[in-house]
Amino acid sequence: MIHTLTFLHFVLLVTQVMSLERISIPHDVLPGYSIKQLHSRSRVLNSVENGLSPYFAVLDDGCLISTQKLSHLADSSVNLLIEEDRDGLPVIKPFVINVRDRKKMMKFPLKAYNGNIDENAPPNTIVENLHNLQVINNMGNVTYTLSGSDNFAIFYENDFLAIVSTKVLDRETKNLYLLQLNATDSEGCTASTLIRVLVNDVNDNAPVFTEKYYSWNIKPDFPIYSTVGRVKSIDADGDKPFYKFSSNTSGAFIIVPQTGEVILVNHPELGIYSYFVVACDGRENPIYSDKVPVTITVNSEKETKILRRSKRATRQTRVYDHFAESDASMPGKVMFRLESVHPDEIFSLESENRWIDVDHNGDVKVREPWDYEQLEREKTIDFWVEIRALQQPGKFAFLLMFDFSYLFCNICSLQNVKGKALFYVKMDK
Ligand SMILES: *[C@@H]1O[C@H](CO)[C@@H](O)[C@H](O)[C@H]1NC(C)=O
Ligand SMILES: *[C@@H]1O[C@H](CO)[C@@H](O)[C@H](O)[C@H]1NC(C)=O
Ligand SMILES: *[C@@H]1O[C@H](CO)[C@@H](O)[C@H](O)[C@H]1NC(C)=O
Repeated sequence: MIHTLTFLHFVLLVTQVMSLERISIPHDVLPGYSIKQLHSRSRVLNSVENGLSPYFAVLDDGCLISTQKLSHLADSSVNLLIEEDRDGLPVIKPFVINVRDRKKMMKFPLKAYNGNIDENAPPNTIVENLHNLQVINNMGNVTYTLSGSDNFAIFYENDFLAIVSTKVLDRETKNLYLLQLNATDSEGCTASTLIRVLVNDVNDNAPVFTEKYYSWNIKPDFPIYSTVGRVKSIDADGDKPFYKFSSNTSGAFIIVPQTGEVILVNHPELGIYSYFVVACDGRENPIYSDKVPVTITVNSEKETKILRRSKRATRQTRVYDHFAESDASMPGKVMFRLESVHPDEIFSLESENRWIDVDHNGDVKVREPWDYEQLEREKTIDFWVEIRALQQPGKFAFLLMFDFSYLFCNICSLQNVKGKALFYVKMDK
């Protein structure tokens, strides 16, 4: 020690001496192990004290390496003086290299951690689910550093280590952060671990309509049960919005909740129908869009058209009442039969439907047991049925709406040519 100090004093007379740096390395590293990157014009000054300096060298590129096996030095330390040439000025850097048994190297209990945090949480919210974050095998005090994002910081107090947010986070902007947590102990041993932080979705976006307003024109003889137009909205939380009119529609038009189609359901009068449509994200605590105006103008160039009588017959409203979810638990069970006007009508589903099949004779059968929970949020099933008859081909749309207490089917009106029919199915849980 005396020698080192004398040597240091000597050096001090001519050069600047930097503060002591401690580095810990495992005892079983192979010769050539890179310990630290230094200034490129550096050299190891011979340490008179222990004669161990030949174990280390600085390469031309400034990399401090071990030159021999160090296993016999386990649990001991080596003092090194390194001289750096900084623009002609020699600078002395003293190092203590602690050779540590690899089993005793400081480390994080896990190579990676998965945490999560709610979006919109206030700054200083602790990232959840990061258990056993503190290093083990440390000697003395530990300093932690975090990198990867300024949106997170370390909270370390009274032996309690946590990662906290520094900002209000928005999942729709960024939903995953990759952070690196490093630790250094008093002996210069370092460890590093990866922390993934997933930002939890909190419903914070209302659906937004793609148009500021919707305006359509139809003729008075516009076929009943045909689509007048379609509204559309987009939800940034990824929810599938459903739609409804927020004002009274006087019975002429309805909107299909799942699709946003506006359908004429009663003979319209000449004039202008003005409604507001609203979209809902369907969450447990739903958020509604702004109201958007829908204007349907019914006008006619040729008055004669109005006088033309519709040949269509509207069937009676049928109500099938008081089913429970369990009634539709058997695949193949016939729930009800679509009414046909002619015995030679043949029914078929236009496209495959998860919940129902339709037989040629109009029997609506359970395909997969109806499951209230698994239905889309707005609890509706839409299906188109094609009807082929010798006289008139046509297409019917059926809308099954699942609601709360009871299950019943309400065929509001079913047409024999081209048209729509609605089924309101209320279901027990
Ligand atoms: C650890 O930190 C405490 C408080 O800052 C300090 O008193 C102590 O000397 C430090 N120990 C080591 C080994 O650096
Ligand atoms: C953390 O440790 C890793 C691996 O040792 C290193 O590459 C990285 O530069 C360190 N990060 C910081 C900010 O010190
Ligand atoms: C909507 O119309 C129906 C039937 O015309 C009426 O009973 C109801 O009070 C109206 N609702 C509003 C909010 O105007």
